[in-house]
Amino acid sequence: MSSPTLLQTLQIDARQLAAEALAGLQQPAARVSPKFLYDALGSRLFDAITELDEYYLTRAEAQIFTTHSGDMAAAAHAACGGSSTLIDLGAGNCAKAARLFPALQPRRYLALDISVDYLAEALAQLQQRHPDIEMAGLGLDFSARLALPAGWEDPRALIFYPGSSIGNFTPPEALRLLSEARALAPAGALLIGVDLVKDKSRLDAAYDDPLGVTAAFNLNLLRHLNRLAGCDFDLHEWRHVACFEATKSRIEMHLEARRNLTLRWPGGARGFAAGERIHTENSCKWTPEGFAALLHDAGWRRLQHWCDAAGDFAVFLAS
Ligand code: AVI
Repeated sequence: MSSPTLLQTLQIDARQLAAEALAGLQQPAARVSPKFLYDALGSRLFDAITELDEYYLTRAEAQIFTTHSGDMAAAAHAACGGSSTLIDLGAGNCAKAARLFPALQPRRYLALDISVDYLAEALAQLQQRHPDIEMAGLGLDFSARLALPAGWEDPRALIFYPGSSIGNFTPPEALRLLSEARALAPAGALLIGVDLVKDKSRLDAAYDDPLGVTAAFNLNLLRHLNRLAGCDFDLHEWRHVACFEATKSRIEMHLEARRNLTLRWPGGARGFAAGERIHTENSCKWTPEGFAALLHDAGWRRLQHWCDAAGDFAVFLAS
């Protein structure tokens, strides 16, 4: 049995990341990329979020895959002309793609994540269970640019992007990523999960749960910045704020200073007034029509989608 190939195109340089985070903190309206939410503890807290009653997204998407995987696989095979390369964007523990293997029957599987270290163990286990599938892991920050390693280009590939992570991109950023995906698979297909617009109270509860798990996930970003950039955030001085902004059709997550304070780091400082915020994440919510128009603008012309019974979430197949 072969073992998965592991490639890290992005050399994660801690100094560069620290400089990026500090530059964001010094903006007049402070903002920090959501990628800083995902250190080791942040990734575990996100897994805990997916188990919350209020966070319906993961269950709704799983229900769609369980109910429709046969139809999806048949449609995907037809759309890709029977291609057998599966490219998994933001694969993490590879579990979602693995569940589709029986239906999709890929011959090659390329898993992408920001760090190939996150992929190594999951891929090694998956390779044992599926010795006939050629597997590789690629460490890549595709929020900057989506590109594949030599030997993995396949114009008829099926690109898999579940979890509504596309919602963490603004519409122009999402358009760029979906266009890049189209350029990689001009005769292939895209299977993508997207969270749908719904009642504000349900959206607010999904991102500000009473157990405080999402608050911990957001506040943990400050611990991460203390470690990464030598900041002196005191977590007691900050509170989690998450709210659906209907005009922008997105949840905005912020961290808000509880009082006037000064944040310091080696070689710099910044004052925050009470109530001043650091913007940490957007989670855009789409209508089926709006997302179809976005896919169309990105060059994906043949579209179909499936929803869960409650109509909370959609999975689109685009080719
Ligand atoms: C990863 N992403 C799709 C999650 C979302 O729902 O936007 C991240 C998250 N943020 C707060 N809760 C979950």
